Amino acid sequence: MAHGGPRGAAFDVAVIGAGAAGMMCAAVAGQRGRRVVLIDHASKLAEKIRISGGGRCNFTNRDAGPANFISANPNFCRSALSRYTPRDFLALLARHRIAWHEKHRGQLFCDGSSDDIIRMLRAECDAGGVAWRMPCAVEAIRREAEGYTLDTSAGSVTAAHVVIATGGLPIPQIGATDFGLRMARRFGLKIVEPRPALVPLTFDAAAWKPFVPLAGVALEVDIRTGSGKRAPSFREDLLFTHRGLSGPAVLQISSYWEPGNPIVIDLAPGVDLAADLLAAKAGSKQQMVTVLAGMVPRRLAELWLEAAHPGLGSQRIADLPDRVLRQVAEGMKRWTVVPAGTEGYKKAEVMRGGVDTRELDQQTMEAKAVPGLHFIGEVVDVTGWLGGYNFQWAWASGVACGQAV
Ligand code: FDA
Repeated sequence: MAHGGPRGAAFDVAVIGAGAAGMMCAAVAGQRGRRVVLIDHASKLAEKIRISGGGRCNFTNRDAGPANFISANPNFCRSALSRYTPRDFLALLARHRIAWHEKHRGQLFCDGSSDDIIRMLRAECDAGGVAWRMPCAVEAIRREAEGYTLDTSAGSVTAAHVVIATGGLPIPQIGATDFGLRMARRFGLKIVEPRPALVPLTFDAAAWKPFVPLAGVALEVDIRTGSGKRAPSFREDLLFTHRGLSGPAVLQISSYWEPGNPIVIDLAPGVDLAADLLAAKAGSKQQMVTVLAGMVPRRLAELWLEAAHPGLGSQRIADLPDRVLRQVAEGMKRWTVVPAGTEGYKKAEVMRGGVDTRELDQQTMEAKAVPGLHFIGEVVDVTGWLGGYNFQWAWASGVACGQAV
């Protein structure tokens, strides 16, 4: 691809946003000999990487593949993900002697801290001779006959390619902005409506009241939303809180939840609760609560019966009609709740939606109708599940673009 740019262009590539995707892209392009400038308005480098994974950065998922991502155009991410895989990222960590471990279901974390990842990306940028403008705000992007001129708080910057890597809307308190979405609109690109994802769900206080005593109970559940065969479902841990539900199960399903729709939770996954309760009845002198506590966590059994079936727990299971046992089982296997909303961008881990991928070339991340303008990372409508997938998209889209600009 030509990289001449406007006459006197200082740079071949200007990357806006020095986060996960932006640093990766700048490093790859710089190491290919491109003259790259990396611009970020924040005063602290890559805060989102620093706070990620509880400070240890869940930097990828060993099993990451297209099925772990949500997008209006699900095939778009295939090419970049297959060209830069979790193994490639592990090879990069090995070169920088960064130790890591697997925590849970393919989720890979640093042994030390997220700072290891930030230092590594910075060193990779240095190896590519990347120039930095930080903190530096970009006020405007102007398309010239060839290439672009950026008006910034540190003067104008010219470049043949502009890469927008300004991330999503979550956690505005550490520098997230709608810059990428605004620029996409300004250049006439379509946006898939953005909304908070991987976010706790909230419930109407009155409707939630019976479940308040369950706060603190944690257990593995099956959780789903929507209907039909393709309705997404996850087996993950659920946490009851004073205000609603949290934990990985709820974060995962929140990315698929549509306002007004119910979510359905199986509190005894893998167990045929109705059959087990009916079988336990025969010749038993035990109280209902004691029997149920053998099948689900004790606190859940006690508090659930109190909340949903007052007075039932202390009765002998043998005295209860089959119909009632089936009702208890059904209530726990298909607990259906309608969230009132989400905790919003202040608490979300990612943004769903973003620049419509039908506007972009899947090999280069370049806007098809705006040559030289690229979008990578979270600002693009590719949203990963919880578990390291969002960083894998940032790395893979950053590399694809860095190899093309
Ligand atoms: P990123 O947000 O990393 O970088 C964007 C950069 O652009 C920032 O440096 C910002 O300052 C800059 N910027 C924004 N507007 C600008 C403007 N107008 N001008 C100049 N610069 C601008 N994912 C995962 O896979 N594993 C995990 O463990 C976690 N954990 C996690 C925890 C928490 C609390 C959050 C909020 C998020 C996560 N994530 C995660 C998600 C992950 O952090 C996120 O998807 C990636 O950082 C996205 O990478 P980007 O490079 O696209 O944006």
